[in-house]
Amino acid sequence: MSDETPVSVTMQKDGDVAVVIVNNPPVNALSWHVRQGLKDNFEAALADGGVKAIVLRCDGATFIAGADISEFGKPPRGPDFNAVLNMIEASSKPVVAAIHGTALGGGLETALVCHYRVAVPSAKLGVPEVKLGLLPGAGGTQRLPRVVGVEAAATMTSLGDPLPAAKAKDLGLVDELAGEDSLAADAIAYARAKIADGPRPTRNRAVFGDVAVIEQLKTANAKRWRGFEAPYANLACVEAATRLPFDEGLAFEREQFMKLMFGSQSAAQRHIFFAERQAAKIDGLPKNTQLRDIRKVGVIGAGTMGGGISMNFLQKGIPVTIVEMQQEALDRGVGVIRKNYDASAAKGRFKPEQVDQMMGILTPTLNLDDLADCDLIIEAVYEDMGVKKDIFGKLDTIAKPGAILASNTSYLDVDEIATATSRPGDVLGMHFFSPANVMKLLEVVRGDKTAPDALATAMAIGKKIGKVAVVAGVCDGFIGNRMLKPRQVEAMKLLMEGATPAQVDKVHVEFGMPMGPFQMSDLAGVDIGWHRDPNRIESIRDALCAEGRWGQKKQAGFYDYDEKRNPSESARVAELIEQFRAKAGVEKREITDQEIIERTLYPMVNEGALILTEGKAQRASDIDVVWIYGYGWPVYRGGPMFWAGLEGTDKIVAALEKHGFEVAPLLKEKAEAKTGF
Ligand code: 3HC
Repeated sequence: MSDETPVSVTMQKDGDVAVVIVNNPPVNALSWHVRQGLKDNFEAALADGGVKAIVLRCDGATFIAGADISEFGKPPRGPDFNAVLNMIEASSKPVVAAIHGTALGGGLETALVCHYRVAVPSAKLGVPEVKLGLLPGAGGTQRLPRVVGVEAAATMTSLGDPLPAAKAKDLGLVDELAGEDSLAADAIAYARAKIADGPRPTRNRAVFGDVAVIEQLKTANAKRWRGFEAPYANLACVEAATRLPFDEGLAFEREQFMKLMFGSQSAAQRHIFFAERQAAKIDGLPKNTQLRDIRKVGVIGAGTMGGGISMNFLQKGIPVTIVEMQQEALDRGVGVIRKNYDASAAKGRFKPEQVDQMMGILTPTLNLDDLADCDLIIEAVYEDMGVKKDIFGKLDTIAKPGAILASNTSYLDVDEIATATSRPGDVLGMHFFSPANVMKLLEVVRGDKTAPDALATAMAIGKKIGKVAVVAGVCDGFIGNRMLKPRQVEAMKLLMEGATPAQVDKVHVEFGMPMGPFQMSDLAGVDIGWHRDPNRIESIRDALCAEGRWGQKKQAGFYDYDEKRNPSESARVAELIEQFRAKAGVEKREITDQEIIERTLYPMVNEGALILTEGKAQRASDIDVVWIYGYGWPVYRGGPMFWAGLEGTDKIVAALEKHGFEVAPLLKEKAEAKTGF
């Protein structure tokens, strides 16, 4: 060991049992010095004649939570992980893993080379590599089928969801549950009891179970895995375990792992892993910023948004007072919340008594004054500056000092809304995405005068209710909807020039989006933002709206729909487009799929560059997080700004210039330097 090697692994002795302890905060990841420490300490324990059994455990919050992801893609340092694991597995003395917290990825693979595993009941065990576009690359795909069988191994590796300790014990992954507060001692006792049995190397055990599950998983998850490489590679490795000797299976796994590791999908997914965590950090916030206490929340508006927003808080046990103007609307809103919870309970997500508890902390009222004791008030009425300012003016007189006043606006100027109050420091935007109880994104809009502690509190409460919160600056549409705009504008122009809604949508779906711009418009409502004058027809959209083609809700929009909402291409829409084209004197031409990409996706990157230059997003990766969690951008493409790097910023600039776009200076800079964001 060189002098500068951090000491992250130590050894203690308890009589004839050596205890090797990993201590590498925050999650005991397998950084190079941990691998070195494992090697050194296991070698020492094996060489020590007084040691008859070895326990591996971790200090801190968790057992090893995986390989150190920040080392991926960098030159290798320290001992090879597989070599260290093989050495542990080959130990002539029984080795016991003592698991608490989360044994994930390389952490579980380390536990799998230990001969026995004990865990506390609160522990979780899993191989989430697939969520990083990877597979367990240190024998996990070969050892798991030997311990839990092919079915469980295929499911665990391809879906990546961790198992609670009790379930892991049922599967044989955990040999014994330890006391929640006595893991260290229980593991030593267990190891001592195993001295007589001796080692039990996993590699020597036989694979068992039915390989048919692999095809079943592929069928069941075809939609979820569309476009992804990693789930299939995980399954291929488990399948290989059923027919290859252990070492050959290991070599196959290695080859597949390296392919994924150096591919763009995993790079994108790893980028998003860190981007999501980075998004929670607020630039320029004073270090000593104290969060405000949020014990009670007020929501104004019991419509789809207000109801969905309320559900987030109720689920976390935070009481909500919900306000409407009319009794009927209030009853309807509360009824929808109850219905949604009942439906979740029927699927087993909640117990009926939990639904009662959540409904029990919801207070419906017609009186705005009832918000006086709320710590956070979220206004979720329709998008009208006058209405919003009126509400914020009233809140100014009602809300207690220090209450955060938030608007769930998706476009409007939060600074202007704040002028309706005498406390602009308490005002900010909390832009939820529909359905608000499901979608993970929350844009927290920082006004010019928003106080740092109000902002930090909104971000923290966002995390508490399970959202990925991103700070956005005040501008039309903030981050997400602002970038949607140029995409929509170009999509409409493409229709005029010869593309069909189905062609544009197909290109977006093939790219990996859940739906294309016209499918999205039909789902959201073609009439959103329409001027409502059927005689004023200035665009294709006006023409659709004038004919009542408002989208899925009317069974007609850019597509025709049957009663089950199955879409088909619309002859009437084609006719309307044709009429507009003729009127404008535009000649119809063949539009290639590549042109659709260049004109609908590249302008989003351009807009993203402007957003960054104007400081409306803190960092490029925040924009990526917005698009992944708010709009379903395929995570294997890492968000629009990361994707720009994969695609080549120089290629993007050249295409934008060819199509006559004004290119953002920052994007040009990146193109000249041939870098991404
Ligand atoms: N490598 C490097 N850093 C990691 C890490 C890892 N495996 N896991 C977490 N971190 C970092 C996070 O980036 C974060 O850093 P920050 O404080 O600077 O932002 C910090 O640790 C704390 O992480 P979280 O905020 O996520 O903490 P939580 O307590 O909410 O969650 C966790 C803990 C469940 C362990 C979660 O961090 C997690 O899921 N980590 C990833 C686990 C994983 O994917 N493991 C597999 C890795 S790949 C692998 O092992 C390949 C192998 O097969 C060869």
